[in-house]
Amino acid sequence: MEYRQLGRDGPTIPVIGFGAWPIGGGMGAIPKAEAIATIHAAIDNGITLIDTAQAYRTSEAVIGEALASRDRDDVFIASKVSGDYSRDHVVRAAEQSLRALRTDVIDLYQVHSWNAEYPIEKTMTAMDALRREGKVRYVGVSNFNVDQMRQALAICPIQSLQPRYSLLDRHIEDDILPFCEREGIGILPHSPLAKGLLTGKYRPGHRFPDGDERAGREVFDDENLERLAPKLDALTAIARARGKSLVQLSVNALLRQPAVACVLVGGKNPSQVAEHVGAQGWGLKDEEWSEVERILK
Ligand SMILES: NC(=O)c1ccc[n+]([C@@H]2O[C@H](COP(=O)([O-])OP(=O)(O)OC[C@H]3O[C@@H](n4cnc5c(N)ncnc54)[C@H](OP(=O)(O)O)[C@@H]3O)[C@@H](O)[C@H]2O)c1
Repeated sequence: MEYRQLGRDGPTIPVIGFGAWPIGGGMGAIPKAEAIATIHAAIDNGITLIDTAQAYRTSEAVIGEALASRDRDDVFIASKVSGDYSRDHVVRAAEQSLRALRTDVIDLYQVHSWNAEYPIEKTMTAMDALRREGKVRYVGVSNFNVDQMRQALAICPIQSLQPRYSLLDRHIEDDILPFCEREGIGILPHSPLAKGLLTGKYRPGHRFPDGDERAGREVFDDENLERLAPKLDALTAIARARGKSLVQLSVNALLRQPAVACVLVGGKNPSQVAEHVGAQGWGLKDEEWSEVERILK
């Protein structure tokens, strides 16, 4: 496993992280034993950073149960406070997450998203207080734009940003990514497979079951799947020529950016996470990358 530093002065972390939203049931129910086996498979494959959140249904509790039999120091846990960013709720949410995760410290604690209802000064002051008390090691934010990060930075150091970022959604490259690079903020891309689109397995006619967040989403409608199919096939051909899969190429491409510290890939079973490991340890050649960009235009 390759490692990178999280931000300018942060800890060293693996370049592939385990995104724990699917094992909480967000993309369809997963039996608890399967979720636990998936967490162990991730760690055994060197994917020792786990990203979860208060809002990820059963995710934190399942992670807590899985980690009970492992050395806590072998894993880097990232979690988030979700929805209500008032001081009281930040403190309460952190306590709940610590309990669910069965640990006494969260390595990276993130504000899940921007919510103008709650003044950022108060939110970040509460986050910083958790850091000073030793309940969290580093503070991060998620889904913030440049202006929002500036406001947060005025109150407390930010180690990381967790934005949506994939080959199908490169919106952060214009100003968010360069800003993070300048400020020494490490980037942890979420949804790097565009929720499964970048596996190439979803074709027109596919219907997701109720309870799967993708059910009824426009990006998964037949028209979009039809439009994407030839692009995904062309990307798959580039990956295959390197002995890789589309999943591995899609994640690897994000690691071309030095500010990206760790790509958070969601996985539902041990074989999916075993495939994620093959996304690192190699790099697209410049001519392959140009071809990827041409296909996606
Ligand atoms: N901060 C935020 O607002 C935010 C938002 C979203 C996600 N996140 C974080 O980012 C992580 C990653 O995002 P995500 O899980 O939502 O989406 P994702 O990583 O783009 O896609 C994950 C899904 O793709 C499919 N998949 C993964 N590996 C595969 C493989 N090897 N072969 C075939 N299919 C595979 C699985 O679903 P199927 O098999 O059912 O297709 C899996 O659940 C999350 O788990 C979470 O930690 C954060």
